[in-house]
Amino acid sequence: MEKFVVTGGKPLSGEVTISGAKNAAVAIIPAVILCDEPCQIENIPNISDVSLISRILQQMGANVRRINRSSLYIDPTKIRTCNAVTDLVRGMRASYYLLGALLGKYGKAKVALPGGCNFGVRPIDQHLKGFEALGATTQLVDGAIIEAECDNLVGTHVYLDVVSVGATMNIMLAASKAKGQTIIENAAREPHIVDLANFLNSMGADVRGAGTDVIKIRGVEYLHGITYSIIPDQIEAGTYMCAAAATRGCITVKNITPKHLESISAKLREMGVKITEYDEALKVDASSAPLKRCNIKTMPHPGFPTDCQPQFAALLMSVPGTSIINENVWDNRYQYVSELVRMGAQISVEGRLAIIEGGVPLTAAPVKATDLRAGAAMIIAALEINGTTEISNIQFIERGYEDVVEKFRALGADIKKVYFTGDNEQELGA
Ligand code: EPU
Repeated sequence: MEKFVVTGGKPLSGEVTISGAKNAAVAIIPAVILCDEPCQIENIPNISDVSLISRILQQMGANVRRINRSSLYIDPTKIRTCNAVTDLVRGMRASYYLLGALLGKYGKAKVALPGGCNFGVRPIDQHLKGFEALGATTQLVDGAIIEAECDNLVGTHVYLDVVSVGATMNIMLAASKAKGQTIIENAAREPHIVDLANFLNSMGADVRGAGTDVIKIRGVEYLHGITYSIIPDQIEAGTYMCAAAATRGCITVKNITPKHLESISAKLREMGVKITEYDEALKVDASSAPLKRCNIKTMPHPGFPTDCQPQFAALLMSVPGTSIINENVWDNRYQYVSELVRMGAQISVEGRLAIIEGGVPLTAAPVKATDLRAGAAMIIAALEINGTTEISNIQFIERGYEDVVEKFRALGADIKKVYFTGDNEQELGA
């Protein structure tokens, strides 16, 4: 079994370079299906979710190969099936983008219901509502497979009942080659939605308004091959910013877009952390003033991102006073709290609220990553503690964080990945 072993108690210092955005990559890779020529995608993070979606495309016949560590060549012209019903597909949430891309390109799709991190119910009714509005029929087969089909997709108005990142992007994909104009109202506005629109437009699509809550897509017949570089990962950056604050360190976070991080920077500033913005970097300095408690309410972009909520919980448990988190996006994103409690944290959960009594003594304890961002929170908590913490279930962390051990080590953290076999422990790489 692989684990991370973290000995904390030291402030982080130095520089970290942020990788490409996971949630943009896992949409843009399947979006290449729509293209009528090969594409090259750059600034791709080297994470297991990217490997998984790449292998799914390969299984369908696409030629997908790594040109180098952060670039993928994808030739979708050899795709020979619209069926994606395999365990690989079930293994990740973003496989739902296959539905929009296959429907947009071939007019049919058969895709296993997606898996991914478990935050309770994760419906895709808004995705299906969008496909149906465009003229497709959809059905759930055997409770596990979505089948969608149409003769022609025709542009239409879709009003989303909830602000959904996945539904917004999936409808954009399906509408890119539909006849006429599609208007998505109450659309999500995350930076990766703008990135997907920029990617589609670079291929010749006509998508306007991405980044606002009304997106207009006029379908086109042909999409040509391009080389495209995806945006930096806002949440990876936020995670390192949080870790710097939690250890009262001072770090520079490079290869980022400061605008994408405004809600995270604002919260850290409110807590007393000094943030200095540069063109493509941020300095996060928590080394001087004592930090203050704060409250957080997660919201769709440009609100505070739910994907940084667990990391902030880990930070707030080190800050004296009562902080309250209100999780407003997912029903059940506090599964990690019981792990932090094993370390001595005083956190109680009441419905959507987590009430954190910060500043209490913490002790090292064996903990597990209950999902991707929960795993990031475990690393941050472990870095706060004078002692050695073992974190298991690290496959969740590796789904979304490239070179997490190497990056934290470069910031001075004492973290290693080890393979445990009974009594023996063997370090794996750096
Ligand atoms: N929802 C519906 N119906 C739908 C779709 C969503 O009710 O058809 C609800 C969800 O239950 C949730 C809310 O709408 O309460 C928002 O869900 P959304 O569709 O925006 O989430 P998603 O697209 O499935 C993506 C990210 C998540 C991130 C959310 C919110 C990917 C692959 N996943 O999920 O990222 O939490 O947006 O920003 O892009 C992560 O990276 O750790 C992660 C979980």
